[in-house]
Order: sequence, then C-alpha cells, then structure tokens
Amino acid sequence: MKKEVRKAVIAGNWKMNKTPKEAVELINEIKPLVKDATCDVVVCVPFVCLDAAVKACEGTNIKVGAENMHFEKSGAFTGEISADMLKAVGTEYVVLGHSERRQYFGETDETVNKKVLAALSNGLKPILCVGETLKDRENTITNELVAMQTKIALLDVSEKDLENVIIAYEPVWAIGTGKTATSDQADEVNGVIRNVIKEVYGEVAAEKITIQYGGSMNASNCDELLSKVNVDGGLIGGASLKAADFATIVNAACK
Ligand code: PGA
Repeated sequence: MKKEVRKAVIAGNWKMNKTPKEAVELINEIKPLVKDATCDVVVCVPFVCLDAAVKACEGTNIKVGAENMHFEKSGAFTGEISADMLKAVGTEYVVLGHSERRQYFGETDETVNKKVLAALSNGLKPILCVGETLKDRENTITNELVAMQTKIALLDVSEKDLENVIIAYEPVWAIGTGKTATSDQADEVNGVIRNVIKEVYGEVAAEKITIQYGGSMNASNCDELLSKVNVDGGLIGGASLKAADFATIVNAACK
C-alpha cells in the first residue's frame, strides 16, 4: 500500500461544545497555526455554529463539517437537519455514525447507510465512523465487527461516490477516555477496513481511500499514530478544542 497516494485529513469533532461566537474565536486562533498545512483540515461543529464557522473559514484552508444529519430530505422529523440544509449554509463534510450517536441516539448500521447515501447524493463528504466497544475487543470480534459496520454503511455507494468518503476507525473504548489504541492496533484495524474496500471496490479504490484513526489522539501521541501506513489522518475530539494541540496534530499529518 502506498501512503503517499492518499491525502491526510485531520478533522476536529467539537461535539456539543462552543457557541457561534466561541466557534469563531477558536477558528481565528487555529487559522494562522495551520495556514501552511499540506493535509486537509476540517472542523466539524454543532449545527448552530455552522454558518458562523463557514464565514470564519472563508478564504482559508480550513473546511467545515457538521456532526450528524437526517437521511430524509424534509418533513415531519422534529429537531432534525437535512443534507440540503447543511449544504445551504456551506457545509462540506458531515460526521456520520459516530459511536456517541450509535450509543445514545439509537443509530444503527442501516440508518448510517441511509445517511451516507443521502449525504453523497447531496454533495456532502461523509466522515463515516466505525469501531468496536471494549467488550467486542475482549471477545476478539473487532476485525469482523468493523468489517461488517463498514460494509453495511457503504451498501449501494458507487465507486465514484466512494472517492468522497472518509472512514474513521474509532475504538469506542478510546474515545474521550485518554486510552489510545496503540499505533499497531490502529494500523491493524485500519488495514482491515482497507481490505474490505479492496474486496468490494478493488485495489485502486482501497489505495486511494482516506482512513483516519480517532480516540484520544493528541499532541503527544499523534506522530506515532500518523506514522503508520494505514493511518491517513485523525478525527480529533478533546484535542481539537485547543488551537495549539489541534495545530500540532495537523502539522504532524503534513510531515
Ligand atoms: P476524543 O474523541 O479525541 O476526545 O477521544 C474522538 C471522537 O469522538 O471523534
């Protein structure tokens, strides 16, 4: 596998943090620190911050993503946001199937698949999250489970559309816990995901797809994780809320 054919993507996942005003302040802090980045830089922000974030990022190399969306176009889905609405405010990426959505909001592989298809057909780039719980890992079903999550989420996605998909491997036990997967564990599971892509779409697609690692990636462990051949960037939670730490990770991915 040739890592140099793939563009590294570092995406911040702000989760339920920041008001629009605070979002602009954080983006303004990040801007000068990442302006020379050769990798892609994305900030995924709460819905109410999207408009302000898009405006704050105009003319910079920082792109903006949402953290979720509904798969229907419109209708009686109180509290939900559609792909059209995200596009209308200039959103480019959308995190889909994050483990917190699966765990607390009942998302399943099937709804994640519907969301992936809806995002792609509306010109949004999904950051598709997959990953095992601690129990899954202890039961030694990590590889099978992550392969299955990936396959189901991508059902009916064409090879052309796959070019706009980023996959993030996020072991649930490593998210927000300070427990990071070892770089070998991350590389192994990212490799399993790449093999699934190879099986379904072929070698070329497998070499091209960006597969991130996420789960307590920070300014101290990013170099080691990002050095692995199958780790093409990161989805960063906690550390993305600190401009200097986020920039350190971005700059590590550009080496
Ligand atoms: P963390 O979150 O970096 O705070 O572990 C990662 C994520 O949930 O995307």
